[in-house]
Amino acid sequence: MSKRKVALVTGGSRGIGRGICLELGRAGYDVVVNYATRPDAADEVVEEIDKAGGCAVAVGGSVAVAEDRAVLLAKTLDRFGRIDVLVNNAGITSQGRKDILKATEESWDVVFGTNLKGPFFLTQLVANEMVREIGEKSIAGGKIVNISSISAHTISLNRADYCMTKTAIGTMTKLYAQRLAEFGIGVFEICPGVIESDMTAGVKEKYDRLIAEGLWPIRRWGRPDDVAKAVLAVVSDSFPFSTGDCINVDGGFHIRTL
Ligand SMILES: NC(=O)c1ccc[n+]([C@@H]2O[C@H](COP(=O)([O-])OP(=O)(O)OC[C@H]3O[C@@H](n4cnc5c(N)ncnc54)[C@H](OP(=O)(O)O)[C@@H]3O)[C@@H](O)[C@H]2O)c1
Repeated sequence: MSKRKVALVTGGSRGIGRGICLELGRAGYDVVVNYATRPDAADEVVEEIDKAGGCAVAVGGSVAVAEDRAVLLAKTLDRFGRIDVLVNNAGITSQGRKDILKATEESWDVVFGTNLKGPFFLTQLVANEMVREIGEKSIAGGKIVNISSISAHTISLNRADYCMTKTAIGTMTKLYAQRLAEFGIGVFEICPGVIESDMTAGVKEKYDRLIAEGLWPIRRWGRPDDVAKAVLAVVSDSFPFSTGDCINVDGGFHIRTL
């Protein structure tokens, strides 16, 4: 069994998840870099962590698929023998970004499967394992971090399914926080604003303009490492008397101004 804490990051191959993997790897966590379709990108993250003196492994599988979730946990335990941290980061945007009056069930199913059903049941699986490990004193406690979005509280009419999954992640965070506190497992939501990644590459010009106009007070794009620093703070016990909280990493976008 690894002597170091072990973190499983879903969607760790690119964007925000990649930033979280690198930050946790540099901070001394053993990291499981999950990916869905891009083993090349996941391997590159593993290499970078190795070069920095850390230890990581890439594991493929879709969070939306029950068998893949089981394999993800099994491979984590095979490789490292424990799990201390789960970061539910993997997520996709609305398919085709269609107006709510034209939105499709196909997009709904795939977005809800990846953004909500996947994290909910992966959390259930991992939480049961953490409870078992805490019971046998092989780990002292656990942390679960859910990556939601400003779309949890700010609607986009062309991404209804996406927005609803992100609102539900907030409720899921509170549900698991309540249930798992007695075991010493803290559950948190991180709510990023607009962050540079492949997901936002297609809307870069729009956001460049909105940022220049001052849509949020800190006038720049968010970066994956902005989110990663918040995740590290949460998992490294900087908030020992907190659980179920949401931390905004959005340049102040959530502030209402009159
Ligand atoms: N970018 C933003 O502005 C922003 C803002 C707020 C919240 N978020 C949230 O932050 C998270 C990451 O977003 P991002 O911008 O980094 O996205 P991204 O650049 O598109 O990267 C998505 C990552 O998720 C993985 N993934 C996709 N579907 C998966 C599945 N079914 N199972 C496992 N992994 C899967 C991808 O793996 P492959 O590489 O294998 O495809 C990739 O690593 C998402 O939950 C997103 O909703 C993003």
